[in-house]
Amino acid sequence: MLRARRCGWGGSVLCWPGSQRAVLSPAVVRSSPQLRVPVRWQGRAAAAVVTESAKPRVQPQERKPKTGILMLNMGGPERLDDVHDFLLRLFLDRDLMTMPAQNKLAPFIAKRRTPKIQEQYSRIGGGSPIKKWTAVQGEGMVKLLDSMSPHTAPHKYYIGFRYVHPLTEEAIEEMEKDGIERAVAFTQYPQYSCSTTGSSLNAIYRYYNDKGEKPKMKWSIIDRWPTHPLLIQCFADHIQKELNLFPPDKRKDVVILFSAHSLPMSVVNRGDPYPQEVGATVQRVMEKLNYSNPYRLVWQSKVGPMPWLGPQTDETIKGLCQRGKKNMLLVPIAFTSDHIETLYELDIEYSQVLANECGVENIRRAESLNGNPLFSKALADLVCSHLQSNEVCSRQLTLCCPLCVNPVCRETKAFFTNQPL
Ligand code: FES
Repeated sequence: MLRARRCGWGGSVLCWPGSQRAVLSPAVVRSSPQLRVPVRWQGRAAAAVVTESAKPRVQPQERKPKTGILMLNMGGPERLDDVHDFLLRLFLDRDLMTMPAQNKLAPFIAKRRTPKIQEQYSRIGGGSPIKKWTAVQGEGMVKLLDSMSPHTAPHKYYIGFRYVHPLTEEAIEEMEKDGIERAVAFTQYPQYSCSTTGSSLNAIYRYYNDKGEKPKMKWSIIDRWPTHPLLIQCFADHIQKELNLFPPDKRKDVVILFSAHSLPMSVVNRGDPYPQEVGATVQRVMEKLNYSNPYRLVWQSKVGPMPWLGPQTDETIKGLCQRGKKNMLLVPIAFTSDHIETLYELDIEYSQVLANECGVENIRRAESLNGNPLFSKALADLVCSHLQSNEVCSRQLTLCCPLCVNPVCRETKAFFTNQPL
């Protein structure tokens, strides 16, 4: 029987996070620079800061947008009431996982898992902050783009989630309605997996295919960016900042654990590029840090009895402690904003509960990139270079997984690459 937990990709089960609601758990306040206030201000004042920052922002609409940037992500339930529908869409997604009698089994699993997942979201403030952070990042990006690339301005960002509103299909409809000329499908996962970015791209293809219409906009794709220099700089800065908070006599011995969402081995073994691309990010970040500390790439959120890519983050923490390595820094390396795997799994399950059980001396977690202005600059730079390149997608995207059995993957690639730019 499949079992859904916090989350997971493909294979058996999953649940994913997301939301823009006010987030007030200590873990969230600690990990979000924009939410940090002096201790004496915490409580009502902190609530005011969070509520203000969570307000949806309006993009300037004085001129008709010319270039639309569709920011693709999985999304997460903004409120506890959204959890069920989020899970249902996720379990129904055949690009993410396949199971027998999926149309019948998915509603059953979603209903059964909803209370447990709601409980986890309630521990992180009642919802996921993905939408809020994506809006902050998108705003920063388009502001920069208008001056970096005046001939493709005005730029407007759109959010396209797979499992919660605004759904990818809703965003495309809005883009077509806005009369966008040039559309960029921009994955917000730096490292490509067919389970995540691939699923979003298939959704764009299906939108047009189901309608039997051709796009009016010219589409292209930023499908991966695991080693972009500003992305690497952001990660390195956040790691360095956190390392400096360890006791000076322990700092050099801190083990940096880069933690990424795991994948079922069935996905890895069909040739999914994700593990290699996550490894590339880790290597560049450590290069930037002059290999200052020992490090490992570890994988979190495995669910079910089937084999997943390891070593698992929790087992690594335990194993290191048993071997006398009791100072560690967790670095979420495959997501660019906070979500349930950082706020609940890393901050509560591992850094509090597990760390206490194992006798960890010091454990910290590098902040997610969230509202870092340098990260918005990275996004703007990626889009600007992409528009200048006049390329439809990366060369890597033109190759299907060697053991792919999903015919939609091929159709999606053909849909995008047959468009003249
Ligand atoms: Fe990777 Fe189809 S599963 S291209």
